[in-house]
Amino acid sequence: MIPVIERTMVAPNIHNLRLYAPDVARAARPGQFVILQVEDDGERIPLTLSDWDVEKGEITVVFIQVGATTGTLAALKAGDAIPTAAGPLGNPIEMGTFGTILLAGGCYGIASIYPMARELKSLGNKVIGVVEARSSFLFYWEEKLRSVCDQVFYITRDGTKGLKGHIDNLGSIISSIEGGIDRVIINGCNYVMMRGCEETRPLGIKTIVSLNTLMIDGTGMCGVCRVSIDGKTKFSCVDGPHFDGHLVDWNELSSRRQAYLREETITLRTSAPEN
Ligand code: FES
Repeated sequence: MIPVIERTMVAPNIHNLRLYAPDVARAARPGQFVILQVEDDGERIPLTLSDWDVEKGEITVVFIQVGATTGTLAALKAGDAIPTAAGPLGNPIEMGTFGTILLAGGCYGIASIYPMARELKSLGNKVIGVVEARSSFLFYWEEKLRSVCDQVFYITRDGTKGLKGHIDNLGSIISSIEGGIDRVIINGCNYVMMRGCEETRPLGIKTIVSLNTLMIDGTGMCGVCRVSIDGKTKFSCVDGPHFDGHLVDWNELSSRRQAYLREETITLRTSAPEN
């Protein structure tokens, strides 16, 4: 069993979960994920490793509460335990000294970009963070992110912090950076990544996304996570989850994400507590 050290809500419906998983912490690299199983007979869900502490043997994931399984995760408290935290899985995101890197994150993606920004900064890159949310009260980990970025831009749909609008402000942010941007990394929901890629495509900037697919085993055996990249079939778990965002078939990805929507809705309804 994997002990829960802490579970806190960092913004409405967004939770920070710290688990004692020393083997995962020891091997974790930026951009990798774990597959959690919350109950013995429950589904398996992939969550990006957002932080880890090798000395303490801890890992941190940040997730949004959207369905029955994340609802169960959101009810965990210190001292509880879950059956499985398998990982680290997936390929680490490519690291190196590229120049000026812009990392954009929305929702749980704000936490996902943190370890990437931390390592890119330590490798001598200039690191620009861009975080987006519907409103300013949905931001979290602001201090952590600022500590590893040279500059952080905010975008809110209601204009309560930073630029008003959506991730489509990315183009104007990039244009405002003196010396330009050498590489963009976007993490968050598929819609945010797709829209962000449409901003960087005309600018010709290499843009890496971390695909958010359904997964079962996470080791290339079930085929559930397959995606089309430049017309070729890839498995997000073993070939990714990081891909060139300009080559992703976003329409296919979003329709595959909806494949079990009916079953997910029924499970959510039947698992909801009665009033
Ligand atoms: Fe099964 Fe990727 S999750 S092949």
